Amino acid sequence: MPAVVVLGAQWGDEGKGKATDLLATTDPIDYVVRTSGGHNAGHTIVIDGEKYATHLLPSGILTPGATSVIANGVVVSPEALFRELDGLLARGVEIGGLVVSANAHVIASYHSVIDKVTERFLGKNQIGTTGRGIGPAYADKVGRVGIRVADLFDESILRQKVEAALDLRNHLLTKVYNRRAIEVDEVVAELLSYSERLRPMVADTSLLLNQALDRGQTVLFEGAQATMLDLDHGTYPFVTSSNPVAGGVCVGAGVGPTRIDRVIGVIKAYTTRVGSGPFPTELFDADGEALQRIGGEIGVSTGRTRRCGWYDAVVARYASRVNGLTEFFLTKLDVLDHWDRIPVCVAYEIDGQRVDEMPMTQTEFHHATPIYEYFDGWKTDISGCRTFADLPKNAQVYVEALEEMSGSKIWGVGVGPGREQTLVVHG
Ligand code: IMP
Repeated sequence: MPAVVVLGAQWGDEGKGKATDLLATTDPIDYVVRTSGGHNAGHTIVIDGEKYATHLLPSGILTPGATSVIANGVVVSPEALFRELDGLLARGVEIGGLVVSANAHVIASYHSVIDKVTERFLGKNQIGTTGRGIGPAYADKVGRVGIRVADLFDESILRQKVEAALDLRNHLLTKVYNRRAIEVDEVVAELLSYSERLRPMVADTSLLLNQALDRGQTVLFEGAQATMLDLDHGTYPFVTSSNPVAGGVCVGAGVGPTRIDRVIGVIKAYTTRVGSGPFPTELFDADGEALQRIGGEIGVSTGRTRRCGWYDAVVARYASRVNGLTEFFLTKLDVLDHWDRIPVCVAYEIDGQRVDEMPMTQTEFHHATPIYEYFDGWKTDISGCRTFADLPKNAQVYVEALEEMSGSKIWGVGVGPGREQTLVVHG
């Protein structure tokens, strides 16, 4: 399996690390690559009962023998990068190699300042960002005033770029937001302080990855955020500022689409979302609270409680389509062990009409209410199941029904947080 993409099919936090773990059991993974987003992501990895969280580092950092790559499409906070690395080292974890693209854009502390003041300025229209400076860093990139990793190794270029970046920003900060201006010297000093430690990690990651694929090595592109948070295909404007969909992987890594062999969409057996924005199957009742409690639905990055709701097959079909999924990996099925009856959203009702596909406009999506089909629960602890046949009949029916209505086959299922708590449906 040379090039595999694992991405989120809903609003993030689907448990993508589980799919990676299952892949690693059959094929050793040589490279694990992040291609978009920054330290707004949150991967939780449980190894031998110990919990590890990474935000910027690919989860492969904890996979022995794998090299982790932060590719050009990522926005890199050097501060977050070294904080995470040092955190893992302090716990005595064996970590693999790490390579960072020279072309990745840098998040400096002022990006986070701007993220937070912008959110405050938006008031009730705020996006509910992670406050990590992701949007402002991508805005600088698109506005062609961004700072790239390679710039940290040439002080005079760095200074010129920081001056250009802060020029307009400082007008905004002082005249619109009533804040103090950010000093060029402070930013230059902040960024230079990381350059020596960063330098040995920096490479042309597009070349590195293409050469690895030429040699037949296995490259796993590990998605962050998710389809419905995609800047183009998500619930704009309540999205992140990058393209977590499969197409974004090629841009974010410098790898052509013809090289990708599998695109795995990770999807929870129910739905969650953090931050603002429409969410048709959201629950505001005891079931929502139970999903939140049993599923441990607290954001890894920000500690915010996740909004919870039932599985949405319209979202699943959409994710199948815009990503060209070859398969799904269904996570957290065990969270549903406790229900007598499990609703699944099969379509929406919008202004009195049944709609089977993702509506075209934001207005329609805001008006969408779920049309549910109901499945009998299994009321059994399935966390010990290791094959599809081990699952109680009603759980099998649930998985098969989701597969039927979601647009791609279900390759594997997660039945608990541990690395081994997975089962293969279609090998
Ligand atoms: P930003 O990425 O910090 O700009 O936040 C934009 C939106 O994406 C907010 O609703 C965040 O809560 C959401 N978001 C960003 N990263 C993640 C993630 O890894 N999981 C879930 N939601 C995320």
